[in-house]
Amino acid sequence: MEKRTELYRGKAKTVYTTDDPERLILHFRNDTSAFDGEKVEQLERKGMINNKFNNFIMEKLEAAGVATQIDQVLSETETLVKRLQMIPVECVVRNYAAGSLVRRLGVEEGLELSPATFELFLKNDALHDPMINETHAVAFGWASAEQLAQMKTLTFKVNDVLKKLFDDAGMLLVDFKLEFGVDADGNIVLGDEFSPDGCRLWDKETRKKLDKDRFRQGLGGVVEAYEEVAQRLGVAL
Ligand SMILES: Nc1ncnc2c1ncn2[C@@H]1O[C@H](COP(=O)(O)OP(=O)(O)O)[C@@H](O)[C@H]1O
Ligand SMILES: [Mg+2]
Repeated sequence: MEKRTELYRGKAKTVYTTDDPERLILHFRNDTSAFDGEKVEQLERKGMINNKFNNFIMEKLEAAGVATQIDQVLSETETLVKRLQMIPVECVVRNYAAGSLVRRLGVEEGLELSPATFELFLKNDALHDPMINETHAVAFGWASAEQLAQMKTLTFKVNDVLKKLFDDAGMLLVDFKLEFGVDADGNIVLGDEFSPDGCRLWDKETRKKLDKDRFRQGLGGVVEAYEEVAQRLGVAL
């Protein structure tokens, strides 16, 4: 497998083509951004932690029957993945109220949500990832009704698997964002990443924040928190 050209440089990862047209390399960088790229910092070791964390989580999800992009780990910060036609719709499940939900609806942070909620957001930084619904996604051709139904089922399945995984390690999975894509055979596959950059995790007892909110809110100890999460799960760093 040979690394070819840079296809896309995102806010946290760089994507490279390879000699296999159906495989890409995801390079996890130390860049950490918030507020649609307004606040950006380099956090030493974050790329390595997120790469290893993402591989660990996707392996668990694959074992639970969720098709993921993962092919093989290439280095501390790089993973070979299936090339997907990404669907520009982010799927969000919330188990507890936090972040934009609290601001938008004026509810109290930490409120347990029963049932867990499901939301869709258009992946578009210039528009600040606006919330959309299924009819918008279908009407504008971002995803079909069948794809959306599958994405919703898969996102709740991921929630079931990961809620338990984090709970067993003394953490609350507050919320998370997933991105799906379509593979060469037309199947919906989990792409992008699952890491503390794209979810909220709180200590079960103290409710200490262990995710990117530490960066957004200037709480410090960002990478230390990511390392603690990895350590509690038994991810080898
Ligand atoms: N398996 C994949 N195939 C193709 N594109 C992918 C895959 N996984 C992730 N991507 C895309 O690669 C980019 C990853 O880089 P990232 O830094 O997260 O970018 P962004 O700033 O757009 O969120 C994202 O646009 C994501 O949708
Ligand atoms: Mg991203």
